[in-house]
Amino acid sequence: MTTLKASEGAQFARILSVGSALPSRVVPNADLLEHLDSSDEWITQRTGIRERRWIAEDESIETLSLTAAESAIERAGIDRSEIGAVILATISHYHQTPALAPQLATALGIPDAAAYDISAACAGFCYGLAQAESIVRSGQAKYVLLIAGETISEITDLTDRGTAFLFGDGAGAVIVGPSETNGIGPVVWGSDGSQAGAIWQTAGWHSAVETGTWPKLGMDGRAVFKWATSFIAQATKKCLDGAGVSADELEVFIPHQANDRITDTLLRYLKLPESVVVARTIRSLGNNSAATIPMAMDALLASGEARSGQTALVIGFGAGLVYAGQVITLP
Ligand code: ACO
Repeated sequence: MTTLKASEGAQFARILSVGSALPSRVVPNADLLEHLDSSDEWITQRTGIRERRWIAEDESIETLSLTAAESAIERAGIDRSEIGAVILATISHYHQTPALAPQLATALGIPDAAAYDISAACAGFCYGLAQAESIVRSGQAKYVLLIAGETISEITDLTDRGTAFLFGDGAGAVIVGPSETNGIGPVVWGSDGSQAGAIWQTAGWHSAVETGTWPKLGMDGRAVFKWATSFIAQATKKCLDGAGVSADELEVFIPHQANDRITDTLLRYLKLPESVVVARTIRSLGNNSAATIPMAMDALLASGEARSGQTALVIGFGAGLVYAGQVITLP
């Protein structure tokens, strides 16, 4: 039997940079009430959301993803020809095929990179981060560009009292590359397909063709809320344990921005010290699905609330149901 060579990579990987892109259209709660039986007070109290950003006519998942990616590449200060893989996490690229990542790689002038999309809803960024870390450490690429881009506004039913106010559009991107010290802890991830009905697309290809109805996003909010505040709370603890980090050592917490009350419950469960900086971008950006975590990371670093080199816990969860989280060193 012939012995095959194995690829060899860096001992450790870390996030080298982050960038993000916001759509230009600001949509306050009041603007939703024309179609929605709700109130600004209810939305703010039950979720924390005051406003969100939705794409304008000249914006799209492509324009947002490219802007976020350009920013991450520039901030990493690397030669883009050394990016060997481009991963796009999204559930709002409305073409089954081809994937969008190859087109983004070409538009960014990254020649011949492996490029593919992943569909893991609000856990998409952390799923992609686990893959990017493994790719760098196995030597299958020197640098990985991980983009998370979403335009959920295009599949939002503006009359649905359970979802119309929740989602915002946007994109975030990171460069993952080799490092002398470890900057991405072991991923804690999993899925529960028995809860596929908790967050769903209202029509698949067949029924969309039969009824001529553009699919929307549906959600059993109470079921997801319960799962997030029980099972996901336990997963956050496993992320810390896996990385060998105690709650006292954590400096920044960037949970998926699904609901301020879910974040509050996770904080109580982890008993994090008050000094920990906590992402609350949901208040002005809504839930950006896969893009939430890199957008929040960029916002915290840009505002000076968080600093490069700090230890942060990130965790995403959503449709599938799926979840993934890691402890990371901020870029
Ligand atoms: N406006 C005003 N009142 C409302 C609305 C509304 N939009 N919706 C429901 N209500 C009322 C209900 O009628 C009910 O009234 P009642 O007590 O008189 O019967 C009351 O508010 C409470 O209703 P609930 O359905 O229990 O509302 P809840 O507090 O659960 O909030 C929400 C709903 C915000 C959706 C919450 O369940 C939630 O955040 N769930 C988690 C979402 C999530 O984490 N998603 C994961 C990611 S998404 C992805 O993967 C793409």
